[in-house]
Amino acid sequence: MVLITGGAGFIGSNLVQYWIHTTQDVAVNVDILTYAGNLHNLAAVIGNPRHIFLRADIGDTEAISRILAKHRPNAVVNLAAESHVDRSIHDPDAFIQTNVVGTLRLLKAVHAYWSTLTGSERDEFRFLHVSTDEVYGSLDEADAPPFRETTAYAPNSPYAASKAASDHLVRAWHRTYGLPALTTNCSNNYGPYQFPEKLIPLVIRRALAGESLPVYGDGQNIRDWLYVGDHCAALRGVLERGRPGETYNVGAANERTNLEVLHRLCDLLDEGKPRRDGKSYREQITFVKDRPGHDRRYAIDAGKITNELGWKPAETFESGLRKTIRWYLENQEWVANVTSEAYRDWIALNYGGYGERAGSA
Ligand code: NAD
Ligand code: TYD
Repeated sequence: MVLITGGAGFIGSNLVQYWIHTTQDVAVNVDILTYAGNLHNLAAVIGNPRHIFLRADIGDTEAISRILAKHRPNAVVNLAAESHVDRSIHDPDAFIQTNVVGTLRLLKAVHAYWSTLTGSERDEFRFLHVSTDEVYGSLDEADAPPFRETTAYAPNSPYAASKAASDHLVRAWHRTYGLPALTTNCSNNYGPYQFPEKLIPLVIRRALAGESLPVYGDGQNIRDWLYVGDHCAALRGVLERGRPGETYNVGAANERTNLEVLHRLCDLLDEGKPRRDGKSYREQITFVKDRPGHDRRYAIDAGKITNELGWKPAETFESGLRKTIRWYLENQEWVANVTSEAYRDWIALNYGGYGERAGSA
């Protein structure tokens, strides 16, 4: 049995579904259901006897201890987090509370539970902490090599700083208390069920709604894109074959500037759902004020996970993007359901103050 925290969010709900469909295991899904956590994401597995959903805060030691004692998982995968950089700029406190204090309390509860295990149950138990490549900071120098597991931490946003802190706690719980913990640091994910505050689903939703497509700064910032299904397969590989105490970088070597991503999205939407006026969605691209502290480039060297654990991505950026666009086109109701009033408040807060620069790209 695996316990997945944050299993109602984007990656978590993909992982829960992947787990139910590719193993015979039971998945216990613990999520507090913030704006980003949604039971609509779990419609395909709600009612499945191998999926148990429990609403709880990872920072609630009593609740988590009770859940661990009752369900007795042989692995915990921690995805619960505040995950959006722009939100961390407006409201950093929530990031410290969940990502740092929440991870600390989860580690303590899991360590206490693990200490009660004996024999093979104790030896085989794993705690997998899911983190981000943003802890390594920004690759600003031309030709800087991609992030490796040995790259020094240099987080730049409140989000990245909070994830870096949580990674250090996980390391300490392994080194000091012997908890069999592993950490993955992954590049930008995209795919089904991603909340439309992140670049790719935001652009798809706004394009179809006839709204402007906001590009921060000059649009030349680079991200390294990974299809979420490939991330799920990597997490399974690390749980099954990873060495406790190790960290693994996960990425698919798909570096693209944001403008390249927008252009490709627009072209695929022009193909799949042409605008009524026959013009391209590219017409809607609008440059807006840059994000403060905006990291210039992320890139992952995934050599370790590939060489040691045999993981490789199955999707190319093109195939993953096509799957993603098809999913959003077929799931407009999901988009309508998750974009509540609170979502509209967020759009007004984050984009309302940005002066639009002239022109399309
Ligand atoms: P998300 O924001 O879509 O989902 C986070 C989930 O955690 C939500 O369901 C939310 O309700 C839940 N949650 C938040 N606070 C909680 C708490 N205190 N207790 C219990 N549940 C809580 O995030 P995501 O994009 O799915 O990311 C999942 C994890 O993967 C995060 O830890 C993130 O840092 C990491 N990560 C994400 C990406 C990416 O591109 N999305 C890349 C690398 C790493
Ligand atoms: P995002 O999806 O927020 O992920 P992250 O900041 O964690 O990498 O953003 C991806 C890139 O897209 C990042 O360089 C910021 C940029 N971006 C825009 O240009 N416009 C937008 O409206 C958003 C949300 C992001």
